[in-house]
Amino acid sequence: MSSIESFPGVTADVGKQDGVLAAPPLAGMMEAVDEVRVTADVAELALRADEALRRHIESTHSQMRKYARDLNEVIQRERAKSLALEDANQQLRTFADQLRASMEREQQRASDLENAYMEMVRRLMTASTYKDRETGEHIQRLGHYSRLLALEIGLPEGEANMLFTAAPMHDLGKIGIPDRVLYKEGPLNEEEWAIMKRHPEIGARLLEGSQSPLIEMARVVALGHHERWDGTGYPYGIKGGEIPIAARIVSICDSYDALRSRRPYKKSFSHEQACSIIHYGDGRTAPEHFDPLVLEAFLRVNDGLNQIWESIQDPVELAWDR
Ligand SMILES: [Fe+2]
Ligand SMILES: [Fe+2]
Repeated sequence: MSSIESFPGVTADVGKQDGVLAAPPLAGMMEAVDEVRVTADVAELALRADEALRRHIESTHSQMRKYARDLNEVIQRERAKSLALEDANQQLRTFADQLRASMEREQQRASDLENAYMEMVRRLMTASTYKDRETGEHIQRLGHYSRLLALEIGLPEGEANMLFTAAPMHDLGKIGIPDRVLYKEGPLNEEEWAIMKRHPEIGARLLEGSQSPLIEMARVVALGHHERWDGTGYPYGIKGGEIPIAARIVSICDSYDALRSRRPYKKSFSHEQACSIIHYGDGRTAPEHFDPLVLEAFLRVNDGLNQIWESIQDPVELAWDR
């Protein structure tokens, strides 16, 4: 059975006109309906697509506007941060400038204080030479010899520089020795020697109790500069490493300068003679009086010691030499 025949009341003749099989009217209607329906569906779909597209565009725009707002906020926040950083940076620069100015003021104050302090030490030393027979040139040379020797034996530069200033104070205690002993022409008797031998302790007492490392070094030098390596010195007769190194250095330098200097009771020796006496002894001065390592260093830098002697000359020495 054909499909048409399957519908009740519809025969196979339906649609036949003059023997020609015409399209059944119901099928045409169906097609038309279908066509209308398809057209309607397409329009509907187009509307829906249009709507979806519109919504999508709106949503995209909305999202873009949100992104733009967010981006703007981020830019504003970053700009504020940048301004705050610039501000903090400026404050830091101002603070650094103030700190630098403050440090410079403090350094200037410390330098003024140091200069005043050193000036007082020099004036004290000058005052001591009014009393002592030793000259200002002798104590200056002693500072230079001692620094040279300290560096040669490997003391740190700071200590060597300190010794440069401390060494000239070695005979400060002579301030406390009576003139009759200090200025006596000719040899001292036993009682007078006993008095003279007090000058290291008097000097040490004048310098004791200071917080300053320089003054403490000067005290050690004043107390120990007549001690000898072999224990035959004074005031305590200590020996070897018991004698502080600063005093051991000043001791040999003081002996060298004394040998080079003219005294009422002795002639001045040449550099070679002075070195030879220190190296080999002469009955009064003996190599055993000195720390062997300091003596070796002394001999190594002897040219430098001679240069110091020649460059810092006492006008009186020059007059005597003439
Ligand atoms: Fe002395
Ligand atoms: Fe001296």
